Amino acid sequence: MPLRILLLGGGGREAALAWRLSRSARCGHLLLAPGNAGMEAWGQRLPSLNLLDFSGVIQSCAREEVDLVVVGPEQPLVAGLVDALQAEGIPVFGPTRLAAELEGSKAWSKAFMARHGIPTADFRVFTSAMEALAFLEQAPWPVVIKASGLAAGKGVLLPDSPEEARDGVVAMLEGAAFGEAGSTIVLEERLEGPELSVFALCDGERGWILGSARDHKRVGEGDRGPNTGGMGAIAPGPLATPQLLEEVRRTVLEPVLAGMAAEGRPFCGVLFIGLMLTRQGPRVMEFNCRFGDPETQVLMPALDEGLDLADLLYRVAKGEGLPADLPQHPMTDTAVCLVLAAEGYPGPVKTGDEILGLDSLANDRHLQVFLAGAARGDDGRLLSAGGRVLALTARGADTEQARARALAAMSRLRMRGGHYRKDIGA
Ligand code: AMP
Ligand code: GLY
Repeated sequence: MPLRILLLGGGGREAALAWRLSRSARCGHLLLAPGNAGMEAWGQRLPSLNLLDFSGVIQSCAREEVDLVVVGPEQPLVAGLVDALQAEGIPVFGPTRLAAELEGSKAWSKAFMARHGIPTADFRVFTSAMEALAFLEQAPWPVVIKASGLAAGKGVLLPDSPEEARDGVVAMLEGAAFGEAGSTIVLEERLEGPELSVFALCDGERGWILGSARDHKRVGEGDRGPNTGGMGAIAPGPLATPQLLEEVRRTVLEPVLAGMAAEGRPFCGVLFIGLMLTRQGPRVMEFNCRFGDPETQVLMPALDEGLDLADLLYRVAKGEGLPADLPQHPMTDTAVCLVLAAEGYPGPVKTGDEILGLDSLANDRHLQVFLAGAARGDDGRLLSAGGRVLALTARGADTEQARARALAAMSRLRMRGGHYRKDIGA
């Protein structure tokens, strides 16, 4: 039976999911809410649906006879959209509110890891600035300060001095720098090593590693300058050997699934494991309960073409469980993605600049463009509408080839003030 699928979200991650779902044999009709201007070729947009208006989402599902809802971003998951849809009998791919606490509350997530022996940085949780400052006086390690709640990827401070650490604690707990999200903080041991993201599809009991990726968060070349939502990514992650992925499965993925099930919050959906590969072995820095952005923009093109993503997500949503015969290493290609950002990003940006040159890339099967902060003007021209305007992904036999293709393609795009990193994958 071909499925009518509703994909929620409208960024680059959802563009990559829409592209992939539209190529699934199981996908009959794809609805995109709100979607974006670059996704129109892959599905039908419902541009005015608000993802936090649960009854609006439920009504759209009924009206459009939706068989499967796929949730892209974390906010509706943490707010309980999956629970609301399940209560109406609507199959949905994503974790329930309680399971999404793995991402929604860093304080809960760290305590969960401690309870289940999952390797992570040493930590303390505070709600009182006085107690946190007293702890800083004698903290046995250099600290990282994290707002416990959702902060759109901005709630982590890496102080370089004791003064900066004190200022950060006070800003979060007394200055409400991150609002409610920062009213509880985690002080954590600072880890060293390269980072790696691992993605696993989970059905509540079993998890299956789809692949790995490395994202580049700093705006400037050589990983310098302020943090961004991500300036590009590579898949598979350069250090993700089969042995390492096996270690992550054994020491992280399996204990997470067993622990969540034992605590009455079975995890269904995508578990995004953010790791630091330290000298002592892989350590979890964070869990997210959804796909990554921009990691999805490399993960989807690098996955085996024969894999029917819609079918897998549907089985999980229906409670049928993942099939037993999944391939061990489903990533068969290498992909490099470069993000084209607007002038000023990650600070305030100017929008409304025309994006030119996309047509010249359309027929290259190694390339895929995923729009994010872009919209059509009244005259149909494609204009920038956000900080990260688009992600351009190239596939290749190896990173070098994929990177060369991505750079060549990027040099054919034109947008006033647009900038991208040329060192990703080098
Ligand atoms: P998170 O949102 O927890 O992944 O943190 C965002 C970024 O902060 C990570 O990608 C790391 O670069 C950095 N980070 C987080 N936790 C640590 C840690 N314990 N030690 C060093 N860097 C960290
Ligand atoms: N790329 C990091 C994230 O999606 O949270």
